[in-house]
Amino acid sequence: MSEEIEDHRLLNASENEPFSSVLERRVSRRSIMRGGLNVAAVSMLAGFGLTACSDDDNDNVSSSDGDRAAAMMLAFEALEGSQQDAVVVPGASSSQGSAALTAGAAAATSGYTAQVVMPWGTPINNNGQAWNQNLAFTPEIQANSVGMHHDGMHNFPISDDTASSNFIMALNNEYIDQGALWAPQGGPTASPRPADESRTEINAHGVTVVEMRRNENRVWDVVRSSQYNRRVTSATPCDLAGPVAGSDYVVTAYDNTGTSTRGTNNNCANGFTPWGTYLTCEENWPNVFRKDSGRAADDNRLGIPTGSTRYGWETSAGDATESADEFARFNATPTGETAAEDYRNEPRTFGYIVEIDPYNATSRPVKRTALGRFRHEGCWPGKLVEGEPVVFYSGHDSRNEYIYKFVSDAVWNPADANTAGATTDRLAIGAKYMDAGTLYAARFNADGSGEWLELEPDTIVPATAGSRYAGMTLASALGLEAGDRAGIIIHTCDAADLMGATPMDRPEWGTVDPVSGEVYMTLTNNSDRLPEGQSPTFSNGSSIEEPGSAYDEAPVNAANPRVNNNDGQVIRWVEPSPGDTRFSWDIFVFGALGTDSEADDYNRSSLTAQNYFSSCDGLWYDDRGDGQGILWIETDTGGTSVTNDQVLAVVPQGLQKGNNASVINSENQAQLKRFAVGPNGCEVTGIFATPDKTALFINIQHPSNWPIDDSGSNTPDATVEPSGNVRPRASTVVIQKADGGQIAV
Ligand code: FEO
Ligand code: CA
Ligand code: CA
Repeated sequence: MSEEIEDHRLLNASENEPFSSVLERRVSRRSIMRGGLNVAAVSMLAGFGLTACSDDDNDNVSSSDGDRAAAMMLAFEALEGSQQDAVVVPGASSSQGSAALTAGAAAATSGYTAQVVMPWGTPINNNGQAWNQNLAFTPEIQANSVGMHHDGMHNFPISDDTASSNFIMALNNEYIDQGALWAPQGGPTASPRPADESRTEINAHGVTVVEMRRNENRVWDVVRSSQYNRRVTSATPCDLAGPVAGSDYVVTAYDNTGTSTRGTNNNCANGFTPWGTYLTCEENWPNVFRKDSGRAADDNRLGIPTGSTRYGWETSAGDATESADEFARFNATPTGETAAEDYRNEPRTFGYIVEIDPYNATSRPVKRTALGRFRHEGCWPGKLVEGEPVVFYSGHDSRNEYIYKFVSDAVWNPADANTAGATTDRLAIGAKYMDAGTLYAARFNADGSGEWLELEPDTIVPATAGSRYAGMTLASALGLEAGDRAGIIIHTCDAADLMGATPMDRPEWGTVDPVSGEVYMTLTNNSDRLPEGQSPTFSNGSSIEEPGSAYDEAPVNAANPRVNNNDGQVIRWVEPSPGDTRFSWDIFVFGALGTDSEADDYNRSSLTAQNYFSSCDGLWYDDRGDGQGILWIETDTGGTSVTNDQVLAVVPQGLQKGNNASVINSENQAQLKRFAVGPNGCEVTGIFATPDKTALFINIQHPSNWPIDDSGSNTPDATVEPSGNVRPRASTVVIQKADGGQIAV
């Protein structure tokens, strides 16, 4: 998500302990500068079964140590940075394009091709319209076409035999570029917004599900009118499930029973489940609402605006064509006698993980409220172990917010695993694993250990210096009825404040190595990270304990150790077992731009021109078997003075070092390589590969002048720069090797 809609207000205000003073006592500065682990953390990792190579050689890539095969190598030359209106991949240039793609013949066999597929506006059925630069969108055209601003995505096999050439693809459409959407009419109409403009914008958000197929020339395209194709928009009816469903917190004039709502919004990163469903995650949804009076603590804690909304959809209310308060619902200011007569609770039906069955286009999306309510970046399943709980990790993307974990009550039964193409009731399996369980927030200790802090109504608030609530139950401290699990979920963030969760540098994507169970998560940046010793500042109060208050600024801590952190870091942790409340952690890599030496306290992973990055965001562990895989890192800066946003690759298992530091440092940073660079103005996000690893799918969000207008084609060459100005289209890009081989190796 770009700067255009990010809400960087500091919405978390806690006095949770800054760890840096403890850190300085427990961990040497050099160790942290290099991202290394201290002795306590290393022994914990060993105890948890994380492989910590014990050989003492100084090779960048460890040799076989007896229980691990030789590390996989990345077989491409790291790209330089790029500032073109084109996707750059190894072995292709914008002047020549991806020769193999256009000629259908092998060009440089070491090179890669990059093809645009399903750009914004691609018809998914015959009710859409063929793209042209002057296409005037209507609500119907947009509801039957690929949405805007591609973000998280995932692939679902239709059959195991064709899983690498023909599958269902679910794609988030995070937000919109009004300039591009309304380009033919010179831009959006000011408030009050015409009803059909609001409807079109609402329909450009949400999720796109399509069948995707590769032809004999290895060109990919949407299968028009497939039985799987559908749009879920910010108006699509959705069910509520889990603790909040049916509670008074979500009674609205639309549904007096509090069991359903309309739409999912600002769907950023994604997740998936082992039983074959898609998870779409509601991130910057608060800003489509306003609530001018009658505000509760959660409205303040999450930052529901007053006075206006991001797009002004509520200003279409009262239009003669308005149906069932389709626009009025975006104004949550109370107007009725009771909640059943207005939309004061409409924002409480957002902020969730939403489960979609991509195999059944008539199924309703389900909001799984047990996984917490906040600005969810994404949601990732942990290591699956038969007979143990299923867990999901999620982060709250705002400055100084938290990381969460959900642990199911039900234990994993392999019989529930997805069967490609089967007509199973996957949402019933989702209910089994995602509606009953325990939510936790993360505390990262300075000694490399960590703890998952339970968020249940009867959880006791820990003793903290000066705490008014120590020893009380969370329900009591939050002013809720005893046992009010729905209330805890509605007030997830305030509950985590009270428990002493660690304020992070904007948690973005996560991913899990399914073999080791290691979890990686990007912390994208944080300009409101104060020096050690400075006191935090708060929004909506003077203490983190106050309901509705959040950190504005917070001092450095061990997991977030850089002041004014512009470039972010990737943090990693591992747990003894999926349901355990303990973990140990390290920082895998620190982002930095430029080529500062290790002596510089900022560029702590000693990045160079071949791999410097800022604002790490998208993340995917690409399991390649034998306990090895590629960690793909995507960036969201919107472009810097040295490179556009990009995709980098690293094989974590190739970093094992004699000092037990399997993290990026001056001696091994060459193993982190820039693989692709996006066009000017874009963010690179969303990622998966086909099971055979011959096609890597990424998304280009909010490009400024790309892709080329290829005579109405929805599949042009992504590596060619437009010759003039074009109406930009966010798009998926599929990267393949010209020789058809596996990506990156
Ligand atoms: Fe939509 Fe946190 O990125
Ligand atoms: Ca971002
Ligand atoms: Ca608070």
